[in-house]
This record gives sequence, structure tokens and C-alpha cells, in this order.
Amino acid sequence: MSEVVVITGASSGIGRSAAISFAEEGSGLFLVARREERLRDVAEQCLALGAPRTEISAHDLSKPGEGARLVSFALERMSKIDVLVCNAGYGCFTPVADYSAEKMARMWQVNFQSAYESIQAALPHFLQRGSGHIVLVSSIIGKKGMPFSAPYCATKFAQVGLGEALWGELREKGIGVSVICPGYTETEFHEVAAVESNKAQTSRPLKGQSSRVVGQAIVRAVRKKKRQIHLTWPAKLLLLINRISTRLADYIMLKVSSVNR
Ligand SMILES: NC(=O)c1ccc[n+]([C@@H]2O[C@H](COP(=O)([O-])OP(=O)(O)OC[C@H]3O[C@@H](n4cnc5c(N)ncnc54)[C@H](OP(=O)(O)O)[C@@H]3O)[C@@H](O)[C@H]2O)c1
Repeated sequence: MSEVVVITGASSGIGRSAAISFAEEGSGLFLVARREERLRDVAEQCLALGAPRTEISAHDLSKPGEGARLVSFALERMSKIDVLVCNAGYGCFTPVADYSAEKMARMWQVNFQSAYESIQAALPHFLQRGSGHIVLVSSIIGKKGMPFSAPYCATKFAQVGLGEALWGELREKGIGVSVICPGYTETEFHEVAAVESNKAQTSRPLKGQSSRVVGQAIVRAVRKKKRQIHLTWPAKLLLLINRISTRLADYIMLKVSSVNR
């Protein structure tokens, strides 16, 4: 039976691109997001590109328990899971003082807790088979804090921590863990974050990479069992500067974030 890949946040952007890249390699797909119509379009595209089978499942991951539910649906319908890509998420460009605890709790549920629930639900299956791969789509600002995006950074740092620690727990059990840290990527993310932040729009300091590049990197990370991937050269440069001078990197982040203040 061909590989089965579960992807959350597959209705647009990076998740959609990852689905397309896996489909091109002949993987079967279980696609998750809220917008069913969009998922249906992605599923059709994936079938046309070589996926032997696709299923869609609408879940609102802001609801506690949905992360686990989607995994049990996937196991019911696809009989197995080989790769779990936890990608669904959204951001904000808001000072902490203006971002309520309720909003933070919702973002935490979608960006981190739902991924934790999915991983926990998939682990018995992976452990029983002695194989499987978990992908967490974090961000470069899960490695270096960006002012005015603190709630989002917190969720992305948590994903990096979870992924790094989990890799150590699972390395001798045949289960891989990859953390993907994209830099600025051209997707709907920025419009969604603007709405979340009650802003008409957000400024774009640089031209970003395409989601296609990130989708392909996710497939590569799984195939090569990469532990962590940093994408875009400004992001890689930032991490290097941060190692040499945290103060300079802090200043750069302040400058970059000031456009969205
Ligand atoms: N774009 C960037 O610059 C960038 C950089 C670094 C990291 N990332 C990360 O990459 C991941 C994908 O983002 P993207 O850039 O591809 O943005 P996107 O195009 O806005 O995609 C976000 C995906 O998450 C899903 N989603 C959001 N809220 C959800 C909810 N409550 N329940 C279920 N699904 C939900 C959306 O589907 P529905 O709306 O249909 O539910 C959509 O499929 C995110 O985790 C983001 O943090 C993005």
C-alpha cells in the first residue's frame, strides 16, 4: 500500500504545496482544514498529479480535541498513517498589551495544542509499527523572537522545543521528527494575520519565497530524516548573526518588525 500523509492546514499556502509535492511522489493524502471547498480543489489537483488516493476532513483546530479526532478519522479511512504534517496555524502583528488572553488561548490551541493532540493520537500507531514521521511547521521566529508578534512567537518556539525533544525520545524507535522553520513565505498568512490584528494590511519588508519551495523542503526533510530546516537566506543569516551577537540580531528584529507596528 502506498504511503499515507496527513496534512493539517492543507487548504492553502504551505500545506497545499506540501500536499502537491507528496502527490507528485505518489503518496496518498488525508487533507485537513476548515474550508471544505478549498480542500476538495487541492484533493482533485493531488489526484491529477499522481496521488493514488485522497480524503478530506473538515476540522476547526481551535476546538480542543479536534487534533486527536482528525488522527482517528485518518486511521479509520486510510487504515494507516506514515507521515503526519502539523502545519495549520496563523499569526498576528500585535503588541502583547493589545492581545487578550482569550485570543492567545485560541492561537495556542490552533498552532500548538492541536499539533500536540494529533501527535499523541498518532504515536501508539507509529510505535506499534516501528515507523512513522512527524513534521512540525514552525517558523524562523520560532528561533528568534520578533517584537509585536510575541503570541505567535511563543507558539512557534514551543513547536521547536517539542520537535527537538521528541526527536530524542523517538530516534531509536524508527520514528522521525522534522521541524521546518520557514522565513517569509508568500501565502494568505499575512492577510489572515492583518485581520487578526485589526489592521487594514501589513507591510512586506522583503519579497518572500514561494510556498512551493517550502512544500518541497518538507518532502525532502521527511525523505532525508532532517531534524530541523531553516529556509530563506535572510533567515539563515539572522540565525548566524544571533549566534555571534544577540544584541545585533535583536536590533535587526526590532527594525524588521517596526513595519508592522
Ligand atoms: N507564510 C509565512 O511567511 C510563514 C513563515 C513561517 C511559518 N509559517 C507557518 O506555516 C504554516 C502554514 O501557513 P501558511 O503560510 O501556509 O498560511 P495560510 O496560507 O494562511 O495557511 C494556513 C492554513 O492553516 C489552516 N488553519 C488556520 N486556522 C485553522 C483552524 N482553526 N482550524 C483548521 N485549520 C486552520 C488554514 O485553513 P482554513 O482557513 O481552511 O481552516 C490554512 O490551510 C503556519 O503554521 C505558519 O505559522 C508561515
